[in-house]
Amino acid sequence: MRKYLLGIETSCDECSASVVSFDPERPLDPIQVESVATFSQIKIHQPYGGVVPEIASRNHLETVNEMIDEAIQVSGIDAKRDLEAIAVTNRPGLVGALLVGVSAAKSLAYALKKPLIPVHHLEGHSVSIFLADPGAEARKQEAEYPMLLAIVSGGHTNLYRMEDHPRSWSRDFLKKSLVGRSRDDAAGEAFDKTAKILGFPYPGGVWIDQEGRGGNPSAYPLPRALPQKSTLDFSFSGLKTAVSLLAERLRKENVLDKEIQNVCASVQEAIVDALLTKIYLAIREHGCRSLAIVGGVAANSRLRARLDSEWKAQGLSSAPVFPQMKYCTDNAAMIAGAGVFRFLQGNFLQEGDFLTLNAIANPES
Ligand code: KG4
Ligand code: ZN
Repeated sequence: MRKYLLGIETSCDECSASVVSFDPERPLDPIQVESVATFSQIKIHQPYGGVVPEIASRNHLETVNEMIDEAIQVSGIDAKRDLEAIAVTNRPGLVGALLVGVSAAKSLAYALKKPLIPVHHLEGHSVSIFLADPGAEARKQEAEYPMLLAIVSGGHTNLYRMEDHPRSWSRDFLKKSLVGRSRDDAAGEAFDKTAKILGFPYPGGVWIDQEGRGGNPSAYPLPRALPQKSTLDFSFSGLKTAVSLLAERLRKENVLDKEIQNVCASVQEAIVDALLTKIYLAIREHGCRSLAIVGGVAANSRLRARLDSEWKAQGLSSAPVFPQMKYCTDNAAMIAGAGVFRFLQGNFLQEGDFLTLNAIANPES
């Protein structure tokens, strides 16, 4: 019999709730997403050029119950009491924003007498490829382990060597399997900061992607950091400075507007190139058979196009796996999905234990 689980995500600027369903007898099957209700705060933060934490938490407070009710209603379950458990992002993120989701989840779990599952936001992104995806199911089932998992988002650029399906992930797999990370800005942050320099609104990744489509990716030479073979770490802070100097020069020459497509294509190429260099190196060094890329930057069209033509030369046994576009950026379906695997492992909190559950800002948590 199928069981239903509610997920809640409020770690940054998306307020999201989702109901997923699963069959405990078939734990390796993809998880079905029954509903996702998301309120994006992007427009609210746009005038400030980035997320304002206090505004984010206040807004989550206003919308979280509405998102939960909508997710329940659309899912088709009769009532909240039909839920098996509730999963919520409790780390890492903006602490005030996280607290809103955690408090909502605790109250609901308490009232319904259901288990509560605290989820690490990156564990959610990792599970986004295991949400049912009618277009790519077969390919995802085929993916062999070990798998290189790249989380490329606005807050993180991390590489993990995954030994197995999430059904077998240990509690601390994120710590144990990390093989590379950004030393400064995350890839999404590099997109957003360079986009801001070029005059695009927050978040800029999607703008650079769109504008870059018509441009020449080698029009402007930009730095690729840490090209040395020995490290699997990334660094994107130098790119920001280089783009800032380039934009200043082109503005002085009055040609930035005319050149914007070429500049965007060159910036995008620098970021994608830096990502792929280390991803390919990690695949070789860690003997990975498959590759999965998740997080907001996994939506990037140039990254997907280059992988499409390059993956075979990297010794992978199958094509790279991506989440569906709608599950690349933050959403509660991936948090509910991570909750399902924890639930199946018996890894959850009961009423007596979860009332003291806290929100944790630290990404190392
Ligand atoms: O995963 P996510 O929603 O939030 C975090 O957990 O950080 O990722 C958001 C990031 C932003 O930096 C955004 O600019 C970037 O993903 N992004 C993109 C694209 N779509 C979103 N970057 C490049 N190309 C895109 N198409
Ligand atoms: Zn995220």
